[in-house]
Amino acid sequence: MPNAATETRSRITLRVNGKEYTLVVDHRVTLLDALRELLDLIGAKKGCDHGQCGACTVLVEGRRANSCLLLAVAHDGAEITTVEGLGDAAAPHPLQQAFIDRDAFQCGYCTPGQLCSAVGMLAEAEAERSSPEEPLGLDRAAIAERMSGNLCRCGAYPRIVDAVQDVIR
Ligand code: FES
Ligand code: FES
Repeated sequence: MPNAATETRSRITLRVNGKEYTLVVDHRVTLLDALRELLDLIGAKKGCDHGQCGACTVLVEGRRANSCLLLAVAHDGAEITTVEGLGDAAAPHPLQQAFIDRDAFQCGYCTPGQLCSAVGMLAEAEAERSSPEEPLGLDRAAIAERMSGNLCRCGAYPRIVDAVQDVIR
């Protein structure tokens, strides 16, 4: 009879984009695969699957994270936001609109990760300020540095920075 030590699957609950999902996952399943394969939320992309490209970036409890490196079972009860939760065509997130306005993508494969990472980065910069009146202190170099975990094989970096700067303004 299985016990906790030998059980290889667990029932977990994830709150994704404001909606609660209960699912049974193998303990080896990553958060990325749970989102894509079990919940059909295919916005987060699998690039390297090794924590090196950022294509799989989502927000976990509001903080950006590479979902390919996280085990779903370790995030029972967690609040997850994927690109689908940022906005949609009818009501895009300001960053999504800025990416469109600035033409900040070519193939678009990295874009969901870039967007989630930018949302997380802006939240980090806001949290670091001593007062809401203080500027975010994100010039082009700082944005590039803070977004350096998100690779773009199409080389859309200058326009991605343009889009982030538009939102900061
Ligand atoms: Fe997760 Fe590349 S797919 S970092
Ligand atoms: Fe193609 Fe970034 S837009 S990888």
